[in-house]
Amino acid sequence: MAAPLPSGAGPRRVPSQNGRLSVEVVIVPDAKAGGALIAGAMADLLRRTPDALLGVATGSTPLPVYEALVAQVRSGSVDTSRARIAQLDEYVGLTADHPESYRSVLRREVLEPLGIGMDAFMGPDGTAEDVQAACEAYDRALTEAGGVDLQLLGIGTDGHIGFNEPCSSLVSRTRIKTLTEQTRVDNARFFDDIDQVPHHVITQGIGTILEARHLVLLATGEGKADAVAATVEGPVAAVCPASALQLHPHATVVVDEAAASKLKFADYFRRTYVNKPDWQGI
Ligand code: GLP
Repeated sequence: MAAPLPSGAGPRRVPSQNGRLSVEVVIVPDAKAGGALIAGAMADLLRRTPDALLGVATGSTPLPVYEALVAQVRSGSVDTSRARIAQLDEYVGLTADHPESYRSVLRREVLEPLGIGMDAFMGPDGTAEDVQAACEAYDRALTEAGGVDLQLLGIGTDGHIGFNEPCSSLVSRTRIKTLTEQTRVDNARFFDDIDQVPHHVITQGIGTILEARHLVLLATGEGKADAVAATVEGPVAAVCPASALQLHPHATVVVDEAAASKLKFADYFRRTYVNKPDWQGI
């Protein structure tokens, strides 16, 4: 069963569209600047909605976001004591206390540094005997908790978000998936050897992810440049799961110069952002 979470339900919060209906691409000088920008958006959200449900991602890319948010908490500029945290995906078969289960990673990298307790955390159970039931329970729990306010995403080199590998249905719900060999190779650095990387995972579906009120994808490094170009300039297609962001009313893609290096419209994105009124935020 998904961990219980105090309900932030009540009236459904209205997504802010910032007057836009297209993916906003923000090109930042480096990963640190991307982290600061996104942490700033999370802090603004928490000041407006102290019990906001933040959807968080694992991997190396989001770390500068968490570092910047922790710095804001320590400086007293934002309070996370009522914030709630939701997990995006999980390996199947790793116990919750395995150091590389995503639950452990998030506890280490997000919850503990932010001083948020496990009672304010929700995630799928990767050890459930009935995996399908666990997936459905988690999908329902997200809705019952009032929905995710801001979902932070990374991106795989093949364009996956969460663990929605290429050819995932764009309306998929939380379910079990099989990892591509490329993703297992990419993630092997967190394990002693590749044989320890599970083949199966639970991931929020693309349809589930699209229900968050604000999607913020961070991509850094040249290795993500093709995936980023396909995400924002390619067709909406299951072969690049992240391209589903184009269907969302409020999606922001934050990229460093290297990850932006294959964007045809980079100059346009730069000009648009520079001329954006400050009050709009991302
Ligand atoms: C994993 C995670 C994704 C993450 C991706 C990229 O597959 N399930 O959520 O976006 O890795 O990770 P990194 O940021 O380390 O490149």
